Amino acid sequence: MSTDPAFEAVWNALPQAALILDENDRFSRVNGAAESFLGLSARALVKRRAPDVFGQSSRVMDLVGQARRGAGVSVGEHGMELSLPDRPPRIVDLHVCSLTDMPGCALLLIHPQSIAERMDRSLTHRAAARSVMGLSAMLAHEIKNPLAGISGAAQLLEMQLGDGETELCELIREEADRVAKLLEKVEQFGDNRPAALEPVNIHDVLDKAKLSAKSGFGQHVRFAEEFDPSLPPTAGDPDQLMQVFLNLLKNAAEAAPKVGGMITIRTSYRPGIRMAAPSGRRESLPLQVLISDNGPGVPDALKRDIFEPFVTSKATGSGLGLALVSKIMADHGGVIECESDPGWTTFRLLLPVWSEPKPAAKAKTRKKGATA
Ligand SMILES: Nc1ncnc2c1ncn2[C@@H]1O[C@H](COP(=O)(O)OP(=O)(O)OP(=O)(O)O)[C@@H](O)[C@H]1O
Ligand SMILES: [Mg+2]
Repeated sequence: MSTDPAFEAVWNALPQAALILDENDRFSRVNGAAESFLGLSARALVKRRAPDVFGQSSRVMDLVGQARRGAGVSVGEHGMELSLPDRPPRIVDLHVCSLTDMPGCALLLIHPQSIAERMDRSLTHRAAARSVMGLSAMLAHEIKNPLAGISGAAQLLEMQLGDGETELCELIREEADRVAKLLEKVEQFGDNRPAALEPVNIHDVLDKAKLSAKSGFGQHVRFAEEFDPSLPPTAGDPDQLMQVFLNLLKNAAEAAPKVGGMITIRTSYRPGIRMAAPSGRRESLPLQVLISDNGPGVPDALKRDIFEPFVTSKATGSGLGLALVSKIMADHGGVIECESDPGWTTFRLLLPVWSEPKPAAKAKTRKKGATA
C-alpha cells in the first residue's frame, strides 16, 4: 500500500468516509472520515471484515460484489439507508469501485446525506401532506352531515327499544363517533388559513402538552425534561404547536413500554442551521426540540414514509398524526425529522426565532386593523 505523503494527505483530507477492502473483505485501509463515520478506530477496523460491520447480505456487500465483477467498475447508490451495529441508520450516498492495480480490492466511498438534504426530504413530505388537502376537505364536509343523521337516528331508535336491545344502536353510535373524530383530523388538512404567528414560548406549550399527556394517554410513562432556559420565543401559533407536541407525545406514549416507559423532552439553541424558505431567503432554524421515547422504534418498513398521510402500523391508527405535524411545521417555516432504532426513537423539530415584523409590514397590519 502506498505511503506517498501526497497520497496520505489527500486520503485523509477526503470529506467522504473512504475504505479499501482487500480480496478477503478485510479493511486494509480507512481514512479519518471513515473512522468517525463508523465510530471505530483504524486499528480496530483493520481487524474486522466488512460483512461483520455492514451485514453479510447487506446492500453494501451486494454493491461490493457487483463492483468486483470487473476491473475499474464503479457502482453507486444515492439515498441508501445504511444500518451499522449499535448506531442509528443513516441515509448515505455510496460508491464502490474495483481498483485496477489491486486485483480483488474495492474502494468504498460513503457520503452521509447532509441535514440540508434531509430537510429536502422533509419538504417532500410536506408536499404530500398538502396533496390530500383538497380531497380531504371535500370528503369531510360531505360525510359529516349524513353521519350526524345516522348517529341521531340510532339514538332515537335506542330510546324506543327496551333494556338489553340497544347493543346494536350503541355500536352504530360508537362507530359514527369514531368516523366523526377521523373526519375532524382529516378536516385540519383542509384548513389553508395562514398560521397566525405570534411570539411563543416553546416551554409553555411543551408544559401544557406534557400536562395533558400525563393526565390522559401518557399516564403509564415517566417524563423527563432538559430545557434550555435561555431559549428565545419562536414565531408560532400556540394552538397549532400544541397539536404538534400532543401528536408526538401521543405516538411516544403509544410506543413506550407499559412498564418502564420513558419520554424525554429536550430543548436547545443551535445557531448555524439554515434552510431555504419558499421566498428563496435562507432562514435560520436555531430552536431545537427533541422528543424521545424508549419504545421499540419505528418499523423498518415505514421509516421512509412515516410523514406521509395514511401510513400507520396501528390497528386503529389513521396515519394522519405525523402528516399533520409535518404540515404545521411547514406552515411555521420549520422542519421535523425522525431518527429511530430498536429501543429508541427521537423526533427533532427545528423552528425559527420570533422577530418583530419590519416597520412597513407593521404599518400595513395596523391599517388593515383600522379599516376592519
Ligand atoms: N415514537 C414512535 N415510535 C415508534 N413508531 C412510531 C413513533 N411515532 C410514529 N411511529 C410510527 O409512525 C406511524 C405513523 O404515525 P402517525 O402519528 O402519523 O399515525 P398513527 O399514530 O398510526 O395514527 P394516529 O396518529 O392517526 O392515531 C405509526 O403508526 C408508527 O408506526
Ligand atoms: Mg399518531
